[in-house]
Amino acid sequence: MQPQITVLDAGGQYCHLIARKIRDLGVYAEVAPSETPAAALAGRKGLIISGGPSSVYDPGSPTIDPRLLHSGGAVLGICYGQQLIAHLLGGKVQKGDRGEYGFAQLDVLRPSSLFRGVEGPQQVWMSHRDLVAQPPPGFQAVARTAACEIAAMESPALRVHAVQFHPEVAHTPCGRQILENFVFGICGCQRDWNPVGQIQDLEEQIRSAARGRGIFFFVSGGVDSTVAYALCLRAIGSAQVHGAYVDTGLMREGETDLVRANFAELGAERFHVEDASPRFLAGLAGALEPERKRHVIGEEFVRVQEEILEREQFLSGRWILGQGTIYPDTIESGGTTKAELIKTHHNRVPGIQKLIGEGRIVEPLASFYKDEVRAIGRELGLPAAVLERHPFPGPGLAIRCLCSGESGEPCTVPDGWILPVRSVGVQGDSRTYRATLAIGEFPGTAEEAARLVNSSEGINRVVVAIERFQKVRIPEMRSTPSRLSPPRLARLRRADAVVRKLSHESGFDREIWQFPVVLIPFGTPDRPDSVVLRPIHSVDGMTASAVRMPKDLLEEMTRQLMRVEGVAAVFYDVTNKPPATIEWE
Ligand code: XMP
Repeated sequence: MQPQITVLDAGGQYCHLIARKIRDLGVYAEVAPSETPAAALAGRKGLIISGGPSSVYDPGSPTIDPRLLHSGGAVLGICYGQQLIAHLLGGKVQKGDRGEYGFAQLDVLRPSSLFRGVEGPQQVWMSHRDLVAQPPPGFQAVARTAACEIAAMESPALRVHAVQFHPEVAHTPCGRQILENFVFGICGCQRDWNPVGQIQDLEEQIRSAARGRGIFFFVSGGVDSTVAYALCLRAIGSAQVHGAYVDTGLMREGETDLVRANFAELGAERFHVEDASPRFLAGLAGALEPERKRHVIGEEFVRVQEEILEREQFLSGRWILGQGTIYPDTIESGGTTKAELIKTHHNRVPGIQKLIGEGRIVEPLASFYKDEVRAIGRELGLPAAVLERHPFPGPGLAIRCLCSGESGEPCTVPDGWILPVRSVGVQGDSRTYRATLAIGEFPGTAEEAARLVNSSEGINRVVVAIERFQKVRIPEMRSTPSRLSPPRLARLRRADAVVRKLSHESGFDREIWQFPVVLIPFGTPDRPDSVVLRPIHSVDGMTASAVRMPKDLLEEMTRQLMRVEGVAAVFYDVTNKPPATIEWE
């Protein structure tokens, strides 16, 4: 299908989100590299330039074919996209050093077709360092915020519009209206996209790819591989589809049994579980750093998969490979999540490379986003318990069990204590690896938590100290050298099971998007670890806000967590993403 809208990826974490939001409006959109030549984009009704981590002044920073801004085609620049438009057309971009991250109030200054129906002050989401200080000749500022004079600008004559904030994220409630105004009002797009209507075509595609051969899958138990598998079962029958599930030993309590039961329910006849946990645990024994852990897991996956391919003779001409690859996985772009890391390793399996090279692969979901996959799954009659599962990272509990190579003490500061535990964050699209600030009380608002993070260079998260065993004081607690050992994994698995059970029974899990439970090496000699609760709201994991759970539930959860062997304290993460990430790592 020819897309009506193309999102030019300037390396931002939000580029897929933009395309997805356009598809939600019923209009087919794709993502392409920002430098795609104008000729290759002929026929589009509109282009959107995404955000990105660079500064327009950085050497080699993403740019676009400048002819696109003079072609008479409609263009919308978002964040970096706005700065790039200003830069290319003779405006002025000012280099910022601190930036603006989080909610802001937008005031629309003058009537504009982009802001039709969006009058009065609006809440918007900002995440930028640089800003446009002076619009290019012929452009007018159309909106402002307290920290950003040119929060939107346009040249109706050129059909070029731009915004500094992010209309594509849920934190900008008027964003959908703005995108609708662009897509229908300005670009004149027609509705042409409905994933559920494509199921029969997908089955036909699967049959023509298989041409009588069987299809085998490495399944994770997650939504994508399960829906892809179910489509293949419908298309060619259960005797012809084989699923292999690798138990890494890094799963949650009961996970392997659940996956087995779910596939039995789907009618999968040929499904096997490969117990590889001893190998993964052995490989991880010396891995402390987040990226090192991910690397070890990825490499081990490669080895296990190779063995299965060999043993089950999947490389013989009778089989092709099925994968639950979804659209964001298919494009090389700077803006994808760390999910890539483990997937890159999968793709490097030489056997799989061979199959791909020979065209012996079928990826029925390769043009869809996650929520479109869910809609297809619902249409296929898959149980809600499978489709609505909270996302769970491939490397499993390994990235939620933090390790440390050294001892450390907390540091008392005016707002609380800086804990000697570093975790991953994302600020202005770049990865950070910083310490955590613990405070005594819940901050009044998310803005207050953001202010605490922004006020200190050295941290990327804020947690509330909820409870300590025998009321030990935080300055008396320590971090100690801690590995990814079986007892610590068991401790985390237990804590995670307690949290999952209580959030399920109370219905809290249906109100949130994901609830990581994290083990940090910070405690006392008898109880060396603490648990961090991280319930969040999100639409797709790209941005997230911390959620406050009901008081009774938190009290009961804390009471039960303090009974878990080795746990000294319970903390509650109140940081949004950005500046933190969802996982701690
Ligand atoms: P972060 O921590 O980057 O996470 O805010 C965003 C979302 O991605 C999930 N995640 C992963 N999923 N493999 C996956 O399949 C991975 O390696 C991986 N790492 C993070 C995370 O749980 C969250 O939903």
